[in-house]
Amino acid sequence: MSPDAPLAVGRAPGKIILVGEHAVVYGHPALAAAVGLYTTVTLRRRPGATDLERSAFTDERLLRALHTVLPSEGFGVDIESELPAGRGMGSSASIAVALVRAAAAAAGERLGRRALFERSLDVERIFHGEPSGVDNAVVLRGGLVHYRKGPPLEVSSQPVSQPLPVVILDSGRAGNTADMVARVRVARSSLDATLERIGALVERARALLGDRPALGRLFDENHALLCQLGVSTPALDSLCAMARRNGALGAKLSGAGGGGVVLALVETASRPGLLAAAQRAGVRAFSADLPALSATQEAP
Ligand code: MEV
Repeated sequence: MSPDAPLAVGRAPGKIILVGEHAVVYGHPALAAAVGLYTTVTLRRRPGATDLERSAFTDERLLRALHTVLPSEGFGVDIESELPAGRGMGSSASIAVALVRAAAAAAGERLGRRALFERSLDVERIFHGEPSGVDNAVVLRGGLVHYRKGPPLEVSSQPVSQPLPVVILDSGRAGNTADMVARVRVARSSLDATLERIGALVERARALLGDRPALGRLFDENHALLCQLGVSTPALDSLCAMARRNGALGAKLSGAGGGGVVLALVETASRPGLLAAAQRAGVRAFSADLPALSATQEAP
């Protein structure tokens, strides 16, 4: 084999949380879907210390992540990602899962889903301190996932009769998940009732997957509760308002907040109008039919 030939490749999609972020950290359930923007990790043999050769991300935590799953010597690592970083679309969980898959392939190991989950969560902890694990679970499993961190851990695929047409609007600003989770934790004692209401929305959402107008209203309710947690920003609120003005059935921030993206539920017929409005406003937007792995970048 030539020294430049790939030894192993690992791939994983991104994710978007439909309902339940933040509350999921405290044992409430969440509903999240994989999105079809991928991270690919390629490993090559090379002499000397294991190191990054090429990466879409320049984060010092990446190097620690590599050394958690790979031997300290002998590997060059190439990370390509279609996911925007720090936008709540699971870029770090996607890197973690792709890296663990590549490392397992390089070592000739066949890991089950639970082992992949545990190892990728060790990597995710380097990025986010104490993650709930929902991102890793959905990135690993794909599709639409109902998740509760437990113990006992509960992960199941959520059936959906009709794909949910959505538009994902990018605020253009990165949020810091660890900071936003810490902010909620500090105020926890006064936020318990809000976290509980978010958890209850998740169970209602599961029953409303076939009723888009009602699910849209539920997204609005979830956004209002996230505002009460203090994790929204004026930019995220105005993206939600823009989505609703342009025909969305409902919209909410998705992920940790403080930046990142807004998830807008739409009818297929009204989607081009919202995408055009995003383009006029210079807002990057992705279109997807959840849980199909089909997010495509539309604008600008
Ligand atoms: C992660 O995408 C969203 C949060 O719920 C944190 C977590 O679940 O670890 C804010």
